[in-house]
Amino acid sequence: MDQLRRVLARDAASVVVVTGPGPVGLTVTTFNSASLDPPLVTFLVAKSSSTWPRLRDARVFAANVLAAGQAEIADRFARRHTDRFGPPTRWSSGPRGVPLIAGAACQVACELDSVIAVGDHWLVVGLVVHAEAGAAPPLLRHSRQYGWFQGLQQPDGRFTEIPAL
Ligand SMILES: Cc1cc2nc3c(=O)[nH]c(=O)nc-3n(C[C@H](O)[C@H](O)[C@H](O)COP(=O)(O)O)c2cc1C
Repeated sequence: MDQLRRVLARDAASVVVVTGPGPVGLTVTTFNSASLDPPLVTFLVAKSSSTWPRLRDARVFAANVLAAGQAEIADRFARRHTDRFGPPTRWSSGPRGVPLIAGAACQVACELDSVIAVGDHWLVVGLVVHAEAGAAPPLLRHSRQYGWFQGLQQPDGRFTEIPAL
């Protein structure tokens, strides 16, 4: 299991705080967009999570994609016995009463659609009822480090341009 953890740590993922009324919340790197019509997103939460029963019972949640400068918030929402919503976390109540973290790269508010057992985790599917984006780049996790995206650089230092459609 340790070897699998080490191998999969080479993957890169955005760092997301999933929040619900209470307020409650936890850090995940398993958030994904899943469907546009209907608009569905997913994340995986450990069956051992103490936050999950509160999110499940509330039947609403927000996925806050953290911004590049928010690594401290990511760690705070992964730590037990701490006031996750205390400073430096700044938040406000959004649609359906879900906490929205200030300064996030983007965030969606969702109604709980379905929950599927996947080994020792739950795959949670949410129906998006509200979406908004900020200007900051997202915080990423790779090889147990936080960082952010800088674009594909050519050997001559230029950035790769994506051709217009
Ligand atoms: C970068 C990072 C990514 C994480 N990704 C997940 C994840 O996808 N799913 C999960 O259940 N826990 C994940 N965790 C662990 C939870 O944030 C952590 O176990 C948290 O304490 C759970 O809190 P709870 O038991 O109060 O729910 C991650 C932690 C970190 C630091």
